Amino acid sequence: MEKINAVITGVGGYVPDYVLTNEELSRLVDTNDEWIMTRIGVKERRILNEEGLGTSYMARKAAKQLMQKTNSDPESIDCVIVSTTTPDYHFPSTASIIIDKLGLKNAYAFDLQAACCGFLYAMETAANMIQSGRHKKIIVVGADKMSSMVDYYDRATCPIFGDGAAACMFEATTEDVGVMDSILRTDGKGLPFLHMKAGGSVCPPSYFTVDNKMHYLYQEGRTVFKYAVSYMSDVTEEIAKRNGLNKDNINWIVPHQANLRIIDAVASRLEVPREQVMINIQRYGNTSAGTLPLCLWDYEKHLKKGDNLIFTAFGAGFTWGAVYVKWGYDGNK
Ligand code: UT7
Repeated sequence: MEKINAVITGVGGYVPDYVLTNEELSRLVDTNDEWIMTRIGVKERRILNEEGLGTSYMARKAAKQLMQKTNSDPESIDCVIVSTTTPDYHFPSTASIIIDKLGLKNAYAFDLQAACCGFLYAMETAANMIQSGRHKKIIVVGADKMSSMVDYYDRATCPIFGDGAAACMFEATTEDVGVMDSILRTDGKGLPFLHMKAGGSVCPPSYFTVDNKMHYLYQEGRTVFKYAVSYMSDVTEEIAKRNGLNKDNINWIVPHQANLRIIDAVASRLEVPREQVMINIQRYGNTSAGTLPLCLWDYEKHLKKGDNLIFTAFGAGFTWGAVYVKWGYDGNK
C-alpha cells in the first residue's frame, strides 16, 4: 500500500477590524512606541471589540474563507479541530459551535488546548489522523481572542497580545509533500511563570477572584523569554539536522510571533536570513494559537510546491516543538 501523507491544501484567515496602536496603548499605561518596538516588535494589534462576539466568530470566518478558497463541499469535511486558549465557553467546545454555523453535517469537532503551541500540536494530530487512513479532510483552526484575558492596566503584558484566527485544510495525498516530521515537547515546569490564576477547577470564579484581578493572563516575561529562545532554537536545530535540512535548503521558518527578538534568535541559530522568516508580529502581535496559520495566510502567495518549511512555537506549560512541512502547492489559491 502506498504511504499516505497529510498535506495542507489551503489557508483562510480573519482578523478583526479594530486596530489598537501603540499610541493608543500609551494613553492607557506608562509605555511608548519606542519601548514596544525595540523590546517586542509590535506596532499594532487587532481587537475583537464587538460585544457578544468570541473566538468562534473569528474561527468561523477563517474556516469559511478556507472552504471557499479550497472549493470544499461541506459534506466532505471529516473533522474540525480548533486550537485555542480562549474558547467561547468552558463548554461546549468552540469547535462544536463553528461546525453548526458552517453546516458541516459529516464532521465531528473538538478543541485542543496547548496554549501558544496549540496549532503545532493540532497539525501533528490532524496529520496522524489522516495518515491512519481513517480521515481524508480535516480543518485545523488556530484562534484566540487574547484581549478577553489581557489586563489593559498591566504594561508588561498588554502590548504583546492581539486577536485573530486562521485555518488550514489538511488532506490525504500519496505525493511526497505534507507534514514530514515533528518534535513536540511538554515539561509542566512553566506553570508558575505563565498562567491564569482563577476561573478553573482549582480556583473557581468568586467575588474575591474578580476583585483581585485573577482572571487575567499572568506572565513572568523574562523567564519565559529565556526558555522560549533556548527551547525553540534547540528543537528547530534538532528537526533540521535529522531531516538533512540546513540554511541552503530551508525555504521558510514559520515561528510563533511572541517577540521579534525571540524570532531573530531562533533564525540566527540556523543561519536562515530574515527574508526567509515569516514575520507579521508588527501588525497582529501575539495571537497565541493564531500566529502560525496567520503567517501562512500572509505568506501563501510566496510559497511554492516542494518548499521546506519549519514551524516552531513555544507556550504555557511549557509546551514547545517544531514541525517540518514540505509545502504542497504554488502561490495563492
Ligand atoms: O507566547 C507565549 C510565550 N511568551 C513569550 O514568549 C514572551 C516572552 N517574554 C517577552 O517577550 C519579554 O520578556 C517581554 C516583552 C514580556 C518583556 O521584555 P523584557 O525585555 O524581558 O523586559 P523586562 O520585563 O525585563 O522589563 C525591563 C524594563 C523594566 O523596568 P526596570 O525594572 O528595568 O526599570 C520594566 O518595568 O522595562 C519595563 N517595562 C516597560 N517599559 C515601558 C515593562 N513593560 C514596559 C512597557 N513600556 N510596556
